[in-house]
Amino acid sequence: MSTTFYLKPKIYMNKSGLDEILPGVKRAMIVTDRFMCESKTVEYLTIPFEHRNIEYTIFDGVTPDPDLSTVAKVVDLYVNYKPDALFALGGGSPIDAAKSAVFVAKSLGYADRCPFITIPTTSGTGSEVSMFAVITDVEKEAKYPISDNDMLPDAAILDSCLTRTVPAKVTADTGIDVFTHAVESFVSTAANDFTDACAEKAIKLVRSNLLRCYKDPNDMEARQAMHHASCLAGIAFNNSGLGLNHGMAHTLGAHFHIAHGRANGLFLPYVISYNAGCRSSLTDAAKKYARIARLLNIDGSTFRQSTFSVVRSTKAFLKKLDMPDSIREAGVEKEAFLSQLDEMVEDALKDTTTRTNPIIPTREGVRDLFLRAYDGRL
Ligand SMILES: NC(=O)c1ccc[n+]([C@@H]2O[C@H](COP(=O)([O-])OP(=O)(O)OC[C@H]3O[C@@H](n4cnc5c(N)ncnc54)[C@H](O)[C@@H]3O)[C@@H](O)[C@H]2O)c1
Ligand SMILES: [Zn+2]
Repeated sequence: MSTTFYLKPKIYMNKSGLDEILPGVKRAMIVTDRFMCESKTVEYLTIPFEHRNIEYTIFDGVTPDPDLSTVAKVVDLYVNYKPDALFALGGGSPIDAAKSAVFVAKSLGYADRCPFITIPTTSGTGSEVSMFAVITDVEKEAKYPISDNDMLPDAAILDSCLTRTVPAKVTADTGIDVFTHAVESFVSTAANDFTDACAEKAIKLVRSNLLRCYKDPNDMEARQAMHHASCLAGIAFNNSGLGLNHGMAHTLGAHFHIAHGRANGLFLPYVISYNAGCRSSLTDAAKKYARIARLLNIDGSTFRQSTFSVVRSTKAFLKKLDMPDSIREAGVEKEAFLSQLDEMVEDALKDTTTRTNPIIPTREGVRDLFLRAYDGRL
């Protein structure tokens, strides 16, 4: 259990946050992706900037799963333009690219840190409130989570009107990322009452709202609830860390280019079952999974039954979201998968997110989990 709880970004739940943030800003920089510019979503910031005569520059070259070269380009513009406020607008990828640039520029002494504001357009990563960023090394086919206090944003704006255009598939993927953050935080070795409170609320919000957004992209009440769930889960895992599920998802995503949330969903039922000791003797984590079962009103009369219930209902939930049932169904060829399995097992064990998993995973255990998830064999 961790005996600290860090709370930093001021969270605004609609656009009015800009009225508080913008006075005093003279020179802003926006980090985003091409879709945000082509769809004119970026006007969410540029119109108020123009009304207030704020000079600005836009970096719109972030691609999903930002790599080192993208971060270098953001650092270059950030250091040369010298903004007095930095805005990251987009999904986890633009937010992580901006965070990494803040970190690199500060650590190398290139630039002082200026106020940093995040505006998520997906409800998924919780990156708007975390001190983590995930950067891809394309050559090594690896994803590296980095963390530093300086990367923690100063303010986050949660406005679901920005998520209305998220395609159903991305809504499902990112929503499962939120669910995985909340579940992994809840059973983490560093969880405490504060992280549990955020994780519990996030779990409940996801289970009552994700399917609604998936089926009806214009259900703005459900969209806003998912935005809150994502942020709450982000606050939770920013303090408690994550677990083996993310360690495995990072390496699978880096090797086979599977969207982050989708990769998490491919492992979740298996990792819950493994952590709880469903196939051997129950671990302490089973008690926490049983608490999740109670939260969702699916608990049984024993810890084992309740944990099975969480595993089964997670699998059913993924099916309702049309997520692939196995790594094979996600389009990964068996030969390629097997040839990279040993490396993925090692990477998952080494991934920093695995450190707070409720049980210490074994090499054989992780290998078995990869193989089960490949075949969809629970
Ligand atoms: N920093 C953290 O704590 C943390 C946590 C989890 C994941 N991550 C990282 O975040 C990245 C994933 O972020 P993500 O899942 O938010 O996706 P993303 O930012 O990679 O975006 C995925 C796609 O959705 C599009 N998109 C985004 N918002 C949209 C909108 N409103 N309407 C239409 N399309 C939209 C993007 O243009 C992109 O094509 C990965 O690199 C992952 O490793 C970071
Ligand atoms: Zn995640």
